[in-house]
Amino acid sequence: MKSISNVVTLSLVISIIVLIDNRVNSIKIKTTEPPVNKNLVFNSDGQFKILQFTDLHYGETDWKDYLSYNSQMGVLKYEQDADLVVMTGDSVSGYAWNGTEGWFASKWQHLISPMINNNKRWAFTLGNHDDQGDLNRQQIVQFDQTFPLSLTQQGPTSIHGATNYWLPIADQNGTVQTILYFFDSNDNNCQNVEGWGCVYPDQIEWYRATSEALQAKYGRVVPAIAFMHIPIPEYMDMWNFYPVNGSLFDTGVCCFSVNTGLFAAFKEMGDVISMHCGHDHDNNFIGYYNGIQLGYGAKSGYGGYGPPVGWKHGARILEITANPFSINTYLRFDDGTTDMNQVPHAPLATEQYNTCCDTYGFVNITGNSYSQCKLYELNFDPIKKH
Ligand SMILES: *[C@@H]1O[C@H](CO)[C@@H](O)[C@H](O)[C@H]1NC(C)=O
Ligand SMILES: *[C@@H]1O[C@H](CO)[C@@H](O)[C@H](O)[C@H]1NC(C)=O
Ligand SMILES: *[C@@H]1O[C@H](CO)[C@@H](O)[C@H](O)[C@H]1NC(C)=O
Ligand SMILES: *[C@@H]1O[C@H](CO)[C@@H](O)[C@H](O)[C@H]1NC(C)=O
Repeated sequence: MKSISNVVTLSLVISIIVLIDNRVNSIKIKTTEPPVNKNLVFNSDGQFKILQFTDLHYGETDWKDYLSYNSQMGVLKYEQDADLVVMTGDSVSGYAWNGTEGWFASKWQHLISPMINNNKRWAFTLGNHDDQGDLNRQQIVQFDQTFPLSLTQQGPTSIHGATNYWLPIADQNGTVQTILYFFDSNDNNCQNVEGWGCVYPDQIEWYRATSEALQAKYGRVVPAIAFMHIPIPEYMDMWNFYPVNGSLFDTGVCCFSVNTGLFAAFKEMGDVISMHCGHDHDNNFIGYYNGIQLGYGAKSGYGGYGPPVGWKHGARILEITANPFSINTYLRFDDGTTDMNQVPHAPLATEQYNTCCDTYGFVNITGNSYSQCKLYELNFDPIKKH
């Protein structure tokens, strides 16, 4: 009896594995594509729609990748008029690398295939996990650029990170009405301070110079939106002291371990009036902090921890209007539903954080010194898999 049930169990396990393998193999990867117009243009109504995927975390198991692929396809199905997909980092769980060359490329092909299948252009910025596999930051950008729908660019080699670049969006007359900035918020630690990465001072210098040059070129300050993976510390201040929409269920705000002054530079240059990040899978709040909109996306992938029980996977949508400039935002989930009015949150003394999570001196409300993000990575075993 025992051996028969073992045989049954074994064959069940084998057939499930075969099923999962077939499903992952069923992810369609198109290899030929029509020529792509790389120019971003507002439509004749002066509208431009950005769809933000964040923390896709491909590569942990074939099953999770299959779910993430379906989730992206679901979101795209209901947002067919999106003009651009922006991915704000941790698209791949680099810590799940199996030691074989070609691993990253194989995961990347899976995660971009929903965009290729829907003929959507994309641009991405790197997270802290993407480069833990077999490709470094520059190599990831190079590989992504081999796909015609990719608008991703390699940043200057003299500064920290790889995905430091900008893209213009013009109106129908060719006048540039919006700038999109992409920043590489790097990996762990900032300027040797333990915690999360940051946008380094040399990158901020690059931003200032770029912003000045754009102002000179266009003869005015063009409104801009910034994308990066790790939140700036002002997100924590905003949650602590200002009303926002949306929730914080993560271990606080896992922001830069050093405040390198990016927010101050935005205020100084006056162009960036909205910023969007990912990184904290269980946070999705958005609000205004001293005149600049600061928002999280919605966790898009099935790898990694989170999102909290009861939350759906999806994307944040940014509907930009050119003139006068405005942004309308909402969350779109993979089952087609939306959240147009995220729950309001008023500051509460019992829900305030003393410093960015995992930074020296951080304590969560119940006294833990590690974030969920850190613990998940530390406990991840690529052999056993989750
Ligand atoms: C590692 O992953 C790649 C891509 O999924 C796969 O082709 C390869 O066979 C894997 N290697 C091992 C040793 O598991
Ligand atoms: C484009 O130019 C025409 C002619 O000057 C003008 O009427 C129209 O409003 C402009 N469109 C936009 C989007 O600025
Ligand atoms: C934020 O909450 C307010 C109050 O409920 C609501 O009117 C508004 O639409 C919400 N905004 C967003 C972006 O969710
Ligand atoms: C805080 O840390 C404790 C362990 O010390 C952990 O059980 C708890 O889940 C953490 N709380 C949050 C909100 O992360």
